[in-house]
Amino acid sequence: LLSSLLCALPSYAADHFFPGPFSTDGRWMVNEAGNKLTLAGVNWPGHGDTMVPEGLQYASIADTIDKLKSIGMNVIRLTWAVQMVDEIIDNGGDKDIKTAFVDVLGQTNGTAVWQAVMKQNPSFSPNITRLQVFDAIAAECAKQQIYVHLDNHVSKAGWCCDDDDDGNAWFGDEHFDTTKWKRALGYMARHGKSWPSLMSMALRNELREPSFNRRKGAAVNWNTWYGNMTAGADAIHKANPDLLIFFSGLGFDSQLRQIFSDDVSGRDIDFDKSKLAYGNKIVLEVHDYDMGESNCTRKEAKLTQNAFAALGPKSPQVKTVFPLVMSEWGFAQQADQYQAPFASCLRNFLPKQQVGWMTWVLGGSYYIRSGVQDYDETWGLLDHTWTSWRCPECILKGLAPMVNVTLGN
Ligand SMILES: *[C@@H]1O[C@H](CO)[C@@H](O)[C@H](O)[C@H]1NC(C)=O
Ligand SMILES: *[C@@H]1O[C@H](CO)[C@@H](O)[C@H](O)[C@H]1NC(C)=O
Ligand SMILES: *[C@@H]1O[C@H](CO)[C@@H](O)[C@H](O)[C@H]1NC(C)=O
Ligand SMILES: *[C@@H]1O[C@H](CO)[C@@H](O)[C@H](O)[C@H]1NC(C)=O
Ligand SMILES: *[C@@H]1O[C@H](CO)[C@@H](O)[C@H](O)[C@H]1NC(C)=O
Repeated sequence: LLSSLLCALPSYAADHFFPGPFSTDGRWMVNEAGNKLTLAGVNWPGHGDTMVPEGLQYASIADTIDKLKSIGMNVIRLTWAVQMVDEIIDNGGDKDIKTAFVDVLGQTNGTAVWQAVMKQNPSFSPNITRLQVFDAIAAECAKQQIYVHLDNHVSKAGWCCDDDDDGNAWFGDEHFDTTKWKRALGYMARHGKSWPSLMSMALRNELREPSFNRRKGAAVNWNTWYGNMTAGADAIHKANPDLLIFFSGLGFDSQLRQIFSDDVSGRDIDFDKSKLAYGNKIVLEVHDYDMGESNCTRKEAKLTQNAFAALGPKSPQVKTVFPLVMSEWGFAQQADQYQAPFASCLRNFLPKQQVGWMTWVLGGSYYIRSGVQDYDETWGLLDHTWTSWRCPECILKGLAPMVNVTLGN
């Protein structure tokens, strides 16, 4: 009944918010009624130093979600840091956000930002905690029919991943305690049971080889990847068996071929979904940024080789078929960029592949990034104050039509 009611509604978002839970069927994500899930949305960071989802000093949660709805998006990739969960568990409870802001931004600026957040979001109680802000975003998403995809972005909170030197790069890296990571995945998966909008969770953003100085002797190879990723997936699945579980690859989540193909040297894993309790919940995620390839034919061939061949069909080279989502791609929001080869190529390629995507990034500023308060994000869809589109032409001529095509309108 619910799905027939949703289909009867005229707005396109309603056509793309099917009730969960979802599982996988070959290359598709489907619900019990057989509706195929396609995602078109944006990243909303909550893993920065304050561990409070960004932008709330400039706009209410509802106003920001309204903007995504206005261009038909149906998902946010909401990022979080293991450090937040460590602090909740080990300190006997979460921090209120006033303390969180003051701890990171200092007494004067932290208090001012907190006051602005409270003014923009009058429904927040003065003692609202960080995780309760995540709850409020998830609740508004449910209300407006936007999926939440939860992404463990880092262990130690902060901007990621300009390099391999931040201690968050690989299992066992300086800040990447795998025991705490699994504990946190289970905690968030369990907590997310109270979010009707939550349909999927990712294991870890952009795994990569730590720099020589930071490396603690942990081997960076597919065996270590497989052992840790399946253990992480176990933790999510035991805590919340409804969720789809996203697996990212190596090399800043650009290399996935070893997961689905055995035609590559260095593949030493046998990824057998039938042996895993959550075998029908596994989705692969890939990231792509402009690395200077201006030939779209060549770019598509590389993406296919490294990731998109996972969509099948099965062949001697493609042993296992998976659904795939491009959970990050983006560019500076200026008119010459959305027309440049990188954006033009993906705008055509992703819908053609019938895969979902989340662009980087929603907001036009961060509370603090890399030590700079109120950091301006030139890649943000929104302007510095989260009020209007930073580049209206990029949205109206580029992104909104792409959402439309992706979701089949
Ligand atoms: C938080 O504030 C609300 C209302 O302002 C109050 O009802 C509640 O008891 C407070 N909770 C804590 C843990 O202080
Ligand atoms: C997880 O990664 C660590 C490296 O930090 C490695 O020592 C361990 O063997 C891996 N776990 C599994 C189950 O493969
Ligand atoms: C782009 O790459 C393809 C495949 O390698 C090649 O056939 C084509 O000539 C290239 N186009 C240009 C304009 O260089
Ligand atoms: C505090 O905020 C003001 C602007 O409101 C800014 O000029 C100043 O740099 C901030 N302080 C720090 C330590 O970043
Ligand atoms: C999306 O598709 C609908 C139906 O075809 C159309 O009316 C609408 O103008 C399109 N919107 C955009 C932004 O392309």
